[in-house]
Amino acid sequence: MALRLKQRLGRKFDEEIRFFKGMMQGPKTVGSIVPTSSITARRMASVANPHSDLPVLELGPGTGAITKAILAHGVKPEKLVAIEYSTDFYEHLMRLYPGVSFINGDAFDLDKTLGSLKDQKFDSVISGIPLLNFPMQARIALLESLLDRMPAGRPMVQISYGAVSPIVANADRYSIHHFDFIVRNIPPAQLWIYRRG
Ligand SMILES: C[S@@+](CC[C@H](N)C(=O)[O-])C[C@H]1O[C@@H](n2cnc3c(N)ncnc32)[C@H](O)[C@@H]1O
Repeated sequence: MALRLKQRLGRKFDEEIRFFKGMMQGPKTVGSIVPTSSITARRMASVANPHSDLPVLELGPGTGAITKAILAHGVKPEKLVAIEYSTDFYEHLMRLYPGVSFINGDAFDLDKTLGSLKDQKFDSVISGIPLLNFPMQARIALLESLLDRMPAGRPMVQISYGAVSPIVANADRYSIHHFDFIVRNIPPAQLWIYRRG
Protein backbone atom coordinates (compact mmCIF):
# COMPACT_ATOMS: atom_id res chain seq x y z
CA MET A 1 0.00 0.00 0.00
CA ALA A 2 2.67 2.40 1.15
CA LEU A 3 4.11 3.59 -2.18
CA ARG A 4 0.78 3.87 -4.04
CA LEU A 5 -0.90 5.69 -1.15
CA LYS A 6 2.08 8.02 -0.76
CA GLN A 7 1.99 8.79 -4.51
CA ARG A 8 -1.75 9.46 -4.36
CA LEU A 9 -1.50 11.71 -1.34
CA GLY A 10 1.47 13.48 -2.93
CA ARG A 11 -0.57 14.14 -6.10
CA LYS A 12 -3.55 15.39 -4.09
CA PHE A 13 -1.31 17.71 -2.08
CA ASP A 14 0.27 18.97 -5.31
CA GLU A 15 -3.22 19.69 -6.74
CA GLU A 16 -4.21 21.58 -3.62
CA ILE A 17 -1.04 23.69 -3.64
CA ARG A 18 -1.57 24.43 -7.34
CA PHE A 19 -5.17 25.39 -6.66
CA PHE A 20 -4.19 27.58 -3.71
CA LYS A 21 -1.59 29.38 -5.86
CA GLY A 22 -4.22 29.92 -8.57
CA MET A 23 -6.60 31.24 -5.95
CA MET A 24 -4.01 33.70 -4.65
CA GLN A 25 -3.30 34.95 -8.20
CA GLY A 26 -6.94 35.28 -9.27
CA PRO A 27 -9.38 34.91 -6.36
CA LYS A 28 -12.28 36.22 -8.45
CA THR A 29 -11.77 33.85 -11.36
CA VAL A 30 -10.93 30.78 -9.26
CA GLY A 31 -13.77 31.43 -6.82
CA SER A 32 -13.25 28.51 -4.43
CA ILE A 33 -10.74 27.51 -1.79
CA VAL A 34 -9.97 23.89 -2.71
CA PRO A 35 -10.52 21.68 -5.77
CA THR A 36 -13.98 20.17 -6.35
CA SER A 37 -14.49 16.96 -4.34
CA SER A 38 -14.55 13.66 -6.21
CA ILE A 39 -18.18 13.08 -5.14
CA THR A 40 -19.27 16.41 -6.62
CA ALA A 41 -17.18 15.83 -9.73
CA ARG A 42 -18.75 12.39 -10.30
CA ARG A 43 -22.26 13.76 -9.81
CA MET A 44 -21.63 16.54 -12.34
CA ALA A 45 -20.02 14.14 -14.82
CA SER A 46 -23.05 11.84 -14.59
CA VAL A 47 -25.12 14.20 -16.79
CA ALA A 48 -22.90 13.55 -19.84
CA ASN A 49 -23.90 10.87 -22.32
CA PRO A 50 -20.72 8.93 -23.13
CA HIS A 51 -22.49 7.25 -26.08
CA SER A 52 -23.41 10.50 -27.81
CA ASP A 53 -21.79 11.38 -31.13
CA LEU A 54 -21.42 14.90 -29.79
CA PRO A 55 -18.54 16.09 -27.60
CA VAL A 56 -18.95 17.29 -24.02
CA LEU A 57 -17.96 20.85 -23.14
CA GLU A 58 -16.37 21.57 -19.76
CA LEU A 59 -15.90 25.11 -18.46
CA GLY A 60 -13.26 26.06 -15.86
CA PRO A 61 -11.58 22.67 -15.37
CA GLY A 62 -8.97 24.16 -12.97
CA THR A 63 -6.88 21.32 -11.58
CA GLY A 64 -8.92 18.73 -13.51
CA ALA A 65 -11.04 17.11 -10.76
CA ILE A 66 -14.17 17.24 -12.93
CA THR A 67 -12.23 16.44 -16.13
CA LYS A 68 -11.04 13.24 -14.47
CA ALA A 69 -14.61 12.31 -13.48
CA ILE A 70 -15.94 13.02 -17.01
CA LEU A 71 -13.30 10.69 -18.48
CA ALA A 72 -14.00 8.06 -15.80
CA HIS A 73 -17.69 8.30 -16.72
CA GLY A 74 -16.75 6.96 -20.15
CA VAL A 75 -16.40 10.08 -22.28
CA LYS A 76 -13.42 9.54 -24.59
CA PRO A 77 -10.66 12.19 -24.30
CA GLU A 78 -11.17 13.15 -27.97
CA LYS A 79 -14.86 13.78 -27.18
CA LEU A 80 -14.08 16.35 -24.48
CA VAL A 81 -13.48 20.05 -25.05
CA ALA A 82 -12.55 22.14 -22.00
CA ILE A 83 -12.09 25.90 -21.70
CA GLU A 84 -9.79 27.16 -18.95
CA TYR A 85 -8.97 30.83 -18.40
CA SER A 86 -5.79 30.39 -16.34
CA THR A 87 -2.71 29.61 -18.43
CA ASP A 88 -1.08 27.90 -15.46
CA PHE A 89 -4.01 25.49 -14.99
CA TYR A 90 -4.25 25.04 -18.79
CA GLU A 91 -0.60 23.97 -19.12
CA HIS A 92 -0.97 21.57 -16.21
CA LEU A 93 -4.16 20.05 -17.71
CA MET A 94 -2.48 19.59 -21.11
CA ARG A 95 0.19 17.48 -19.43
CA LEU A 96 -2.27 15.54 -17.27
CA TYR A 97 -4.96 14.61 -19.80
CA PRO A 98 -3.51 14.04 -23.29
CA GLY A 99 -6.13 13.80 -26.02
CA VAL A 100 -8.57 16.25 -24.40
CA SER A 101 -9.05 19.47 -26.41
CA PHE A 102 -8.14 22.10 -23.84
CA ILE A 103 -8.54 25.72 -24.87
CA ASN A 104 -6.86 28.52 -22.93
CA GLY A 105 -9.47 31.27 -23.09
CA ASP A 106 -12.57 33.01 -21.80
CA ALA A 107 -15.79 30.99 -21.59
CA PHE A 108 -17.80 34.23 -21.67
CA ASP A 109 -16.59 34.85 -25.23
CA LEU A 110 -17.49 31.47 -26.72
CA ASP A 111 -17.43 32.32 -30.44
CA LYS A 112 -13.88 33.63 -30.18
CA THR A 113 -12.65 31.06 -27.67
CA LEU A 114 -14.05 28.03 -29.48
CA GLY A 115 -12.52 29.23 -32.78
CA SER A 116 -12.97 26.50 -35.40
CA LEU A 117 -15.42 24.74 -33.02
CA LYS A 118 -17.72 27.73 -32.76
CA ASP A 119 -20.50 26.01 -34.74
CA GLN A 120 -20.02 22.68 -32.96
CA LYS A 121 -23.00 21.21 -31.07
CA PHE A 122 -22.27 19.65 -27.68
CA ASP A 123 -23.95 16.77 -25.87
CA SER A 124 -23.86 18.61 -22.54
CA VAL A 125 -22.00 21.31 -20.66
CA ILE A 126 -20.33 20.81 -17.26
CA SER A 127 -19.32 24.06 -15.64
CA GLY A 128 -17.10 24.84 -12.68
CA ILE A 129 -16.66 28.52 -13.40
CA PRO A 130 -17.53 30.77 -10.44
CA LEU A 131 -20.64 32.34 -11.97
CA LEU A 132 -21.47 34.34 -8.84
CA ASN A 133 -18.36 36.47 -9.41
CA PHE A 134 -19.70 37.73 -12.75
CA PRO A 135 -22.62 40.12 -13.45
CA MET A 136 -26.05 38.53 -13.92
CA GLN A 137 -26.30 39.77 -17.53
CA ALA A 138 -23.05 37.96 -18.37
CA ARG A 139 -24.29 34.75 -16.68
CA ILE A 140 -27.54 34.81 -18.67
CA ALA A 141 -25.73 35.55 -21.95
CA LEU A 142 -23.35 32.65 -21.29
CA LEU A 143 -26.21 30.25 -20.55
CA GLU A 144 -28.12 31.30 -23.68
CA SER A 145 -25.02 30.84 -25.80
CA LEU A 146 -24.39 27.39 -24.29
CA LEU A 147 -27.99 26.22 -24.74
CA ASP A 148 -27.84 27.30 -28.40
CA ARG A 149 -24.94 24.87 -28.80
CA MET A 150 -26.81 21.81 -27.45
CA PRO A 151 -29.76 19.76 -28.70
CA ALA A 152 -32.97 20.86 -26.90
CA GLY A 153 -33.35 19.09 -23.58
CA ARG A 154 -29.67 18.37 -23.01
CA PRO A 155 -28.25 19.68 -19.71
CA MET A 156 -25.85 22.38 -18.66
CA VAL A 157 -24.82 21.55 -15.09
CA GLN A 158 -23.35 24.28 -12.91
CA ILE A 159 -21.72 24.14 -9.48
CA SER A 160 -22.46 27.04 -7.15
CA TYR A 161 -22.12 27.87 -3.47
CA GLY A 162 -25.18 30.06 -2.89
CA ALA A 163 -28.64 28.96 -1.77
CA VAL A 164 -30.38 29.91 -5.01
CA SER A 165 -29.74 29.37 -8.71
CA PRO A 166 -26.86 31.59 -9.88
CA ILE A 167 -28.91 32.36 -13.01
CA VAL A 168 -32.34 33.98 -12.68
CA ALA A 169 -35.41 32.10 -13.87
CA ASN A 170 -36.84 32.78 -17.31
CA ALA A 171 -39.36 30.01 -17.99
CA ASP A 172 -39.90 31.17 -21.59
CA ARG A 173 -36.24 30.58 -22.39
CA TYR A 174 -34.99 27.71 -20.17
CA SER A 175 -35.86 25.44 -17.26
CA ILE A 176 -33.94 25.31 -13.97
CA HIS A 177 -33.66 22.15 -11.92
CA HIS A 178 -31.99 21.84 -8.52
CA PHE A 179 -29.93 18.71 -9.14
CA ASP A 180 -28.14 18.14 -5.83
CA PHE A 181 -26.72 19.58 -2.64
CA ILE A 182 -23.37 18.05 -1.74
CA VAL A 183 -22.19 18.52 1.81
CA ARG A 184 -18.96 16.62 1.18
CA ASN A 185 -17.45 19.47 -0.81
CA ILE A 186 -15.54 22.47 0.52
CA PRO A 187 -17.55 24.65 0.66
CA PRO A 188 -20.78 22.54 0.41
CA ALA A 189 -21.96 22.74 -3.18
CA GLN A 190 -25.27 23.19 -4.94
CA LEU A 191 -25.65 21.72 -8.42
CA TRP A 192 -28.06 23.28 -10.89
CA ILE A 193 -29.21 22.03 -14.29
CA TYR A 194 -30.41 24.32 -17.08
CA ARG A 195 -32.15 23.10 -20.20
CA ARG A 196 -33.89 24.51 -23.26
CA GLY A 197 -37.48 23.39 -23.63
C1 LIG B 1 -13.72 26.88 -8.69
S1 LIG B 1 -12.45 26.71 -9.89
C2 LIG B 1 -12.81 25.12 -10.60
C3 LIG B 1 -12.26 24.07 -9.84
C4 LIG B 1 -12.07 22.78 -10.59
N1 LIG B 1 -13.33 22.08 -10.72
C5 LIG B 1 -11.09 21.98 -9.76
O1 LIG B 1 -11.51 21.10 -9.02
O2 LIG B 1 -9.90 22.28 -9.83
C6 LIG B 1 -12.98 27.75 -11.21
C7 LIG B 1 -12.16 27.60 -12.47
O3 LIG B 1 -12.81 28.38 -13.48
C8 LIG B 1 -11.81 29.06 -14.23
N2 LIG B 1 -12.43 30.23 -14.85
C9 LIG B 1 -12.88 31.35 -14.25
N3 LIG B 1 -13.40 32.22 -15.13
C10 LIG B 1 -13.29 31.60 -16.34
C11 LIG B 1 -13.65 32.00 -17.65
N4 LIG B 1 -14.20 33.18 -17.90
N5 LIG B 1 -13.42 31.12 -18.66
C12 LIG B 1 -12.84 29.91 -18.41
N6 LIG B 1 -12.47 29.50 -17.18
C13 LIG B 1 -12.69 30.33 -16.16
C14 LIG B 1 -10.74 29.40 -13.17
O4 LIG B 1 -9.50 29.69 -13.76
C15 LIG B 1 -10.75 28.12 -12.34
O5 LIG B 1 -9.87 27.17 -12.87
